Amino acid sequence: MTQAYCLLSKKGGVGKTTFTLNCAHALAFSGFRVLLVDLDAQSNLTKHLLGKGKDGAFPRDPDRPDISKVMQQRCAAEDACLETGYTGLHLIAGSPDLDDLLLLNPRLAREPMRLRALLSPLFPSYDYVLIDCPPVLNWLTRMALMTAGDVIVPTQPEAYALQGLDDLVPWLDKMSSTAKLYRIVINMYRANTQLHQALSSQIEKAYPGRVAKQRVRLTIDLPEAARAGLSVFEHAPASLAAIDLFSLCFELFGLSPEAIRARMAEKAKEKTA
Ligand SMILES: Nc1ncnc2c1ncn2[C@@H]1O[C@H](COP(=O)(O)OP(=O)(O)OP(=O)(O)O)[C@@H](O)[C@H]1O
Ligand SMILES: [Mg+2]
Repeated sequence: MTQAYCLLSKKGGVGKTTFTLNCAHALAFSGFRVLLVDLDAQSNLTKHLLGKGKDGAFPRDPDRPDISKVMQQRCAAEDACLETGYTGLHLIAGSPDLDDLLLLNPRLAREPMRLRALLSPLFPSYDYVLIDCPPVLNWLTRMALMTAGDVIVPTQPEAYALQGLDDLVPWLDKMSSTAKLYRIVINMYRANTQLHQALSSQIEKAYPGRVAKQRVRLTIDLPEAARAGLSVFEHAPASLAAIDLFSLCFELFGLSPEAIRARMAEKAKEKTA
C-alpha cells in the first residue's frame, strides 16, 4: 500500500525540502518507488533534482509539465511524472506559477480535494509519495493535507519554532478528518547546548508521542550536499547527517532491514518476469 506524506511547517527554512529530498533518496536507494511532488512556488526541490544544467543552472522550459499545469488540468498527472536520473525516483515539478493559480482560478480555494483527485490514480505505481509544501498554511497546503493525510513537521529547537507549532497543531487538528497523523522532527539539533536540550524536551512534553525520537543534528554536510546538487548519501555517506536521516526514515516510514530485503527480492522478481 502506498504511504503518502506531506512535509509542512508554518515557518520557512526548517528543513522541509532537505528532509523530502534526502528521505526520498534513502527510500529509492532501498529499492522503493518514490514520487515527489513539489508544491512550493520556490521550487527548490525541482531546482535540486532538475538543475543539472551548465554550472548547476536550472534549465527553464516553458513546456515542462509541472504541478500548476496539472492543477489547471492543462496536463495529465501521469505525463507530469518526470524522471530524475535516479532509479525509482520520480518528480512532479514545482513552478513559480503556483503563486498565481488562485488569481487565475479562484474556485481552487473551494476545491480542497482537487489535488487528491488528480494524483491519487498515480499512487498504486509508488510505494511512497512525498509532498514538499510551501512555508504557509493556505489553500495549497490544505490540498496537500487532503492528498497525503500523514504529515511530517520539521522544526528547529527555538522559541519561535515552538510558537509556530502552537499555531500549526490546532490547524492540523481542525483538518484531522483526513490528516491521520503528524510527526514533529527536531532538526538542526545541537546536543551540546543546554538551550537545544531544554527546548527539545519542551517540544516533547507539549506534544507527547508526536515527536520523532531521531533528531537531525546541525551539520555542514546538508548545505554542502545541497550546493553540490546531491543527496547527503552521495555527498557524505558516512556523515552524521546521513546516519540521522537514514535512521529517521526507519522511524518515520517503518523501514526495516526485512522490509528492504523483501522489496529487493520483489524487484529482482519484477526484473526476471
Ligand atoms: N540539519 C541541518 N544542518 C544544517 N543545515 C541544514 C539542516 N537541515 C537543513 N539545513 C539547511 O537549511 C536550509 C533550509 O533548509 P530547507 O530548504 O530544507 O528548508 P525549508 O523548510 O524547505 O525552507 P522553505 O520553507 O523556504 O521551503 C538549507 O540551506 C539546508 O541545507
Ligand atoms: Mg522548502
